[in-house]
Amino acid sequence: MEEISHSDLHLRIPEMEADAEMRRLINAFNAMIERVETSFAHVNEFSSHVAHELKTPLAIIRGEVELALNETRDIAEYQRVLTVTVEEIDRLIRIIKDLLMLARLDFNPDVFRFEKINLKEFLAEIHEYTSILCEEKGVTSGLTVPDVDCFVRADRVHLRRLFLNLVHNAVKFTPAGGDIRINMAADGNDVRISVADTGAGIAPADMEKIFEKFFRAHDAKTTSGTSLGLSIARSIARAHQGRIDVQSSPGQGSTFTVSLPAAP
Ligand SMILES: Nc1ncnc2c1ncn2[C@@H]1O[C@H](COP(=O)(O)OP(=O)(O)OP(=O)(O)O)[C@@H](O)[C@H]1O
Ligand SMILES: [Mg+2]
Repeated sequence: MEEISHSDLHLRIPEMEADAEMRRLINAFNAMIERVETSFAHVNEFSSHVAHELKTPLAIIRGEVELALNETRDIAEYQRVLTVTVEEIDRLIRIIKDLLMLARLDFNPDVFRFEKINLKEFLAEIHEYTSILCEEKGVTSGLTVPDVDCFVRADRVHLRRLFLNLVHNAVKFTPAGGDIRINMAADGNDVRISVADTGAGIAPADMEKIFEKFFRAHDAKTTSGTSLGLSIARSIARAHQGRIDVQSSPGQGSTFTVSLPAAP
């Protein structure tokens, strides 16, 4: 047992000739070590992902500055280098902010300030913001809510973040001429709010992966975000005892549905 350390978590305690009780204990211990081993593998994979995401903007900054230092340039060229540098620094700041937010969401429940929220009023605000983004992109938008008021217990700031992440995606992946709909329906003890777009859609093989940190679908490689948006949205939904489901047809559009427990 003393031999099992962080560097050889693959080791297990052999069952040997133990009695039934001791064997149960050994099996439980081995199962626990297996979970620790999996967690270490996740942490390792996550660290290398973070390192890679931070390295890319830094490599761009270094390349640009080195080029500018090599010989005397005109003012316009220096301005271009500084503009690229500021853009890449902003990207680094965005990644770090999003990572800090994820860590807070998943490990510090004290960040949430729950209050009773009238979803019809809340979604009217979200839709107002959505319609501005849609107009800029040449996309139509709409909001459908039931006649009766629906309430949830939620943290307003984080709930807003969740829906804005879904709306930003819908707008980003829907070309001009498309349509984005926000729909609310009360279903027993749950309230379901969906954000549906008529955009690019998601390949069936990518449906599970899109909620992973830093995952971008192949044809979305060029988009500018940190690719932490859906991870953040899912963490916020879970912190509210809710969930996010997605349905999509490539080339036809996607619908993200958030289910939250209704408040009396
Ligand atoms: N509405 C959508 N339509 C098509 N693909 C989507 C949609 N929403 C998400 N995706 C896919 O899921 C991936 C992950 O989305 P996520 O919001 O986590 O990251 P992002 O939008 O790329 O970056 P960020 O949200 O940090 O700006 C996207 O890159 C895209 O491939
Ligand atoms: Mg996004």
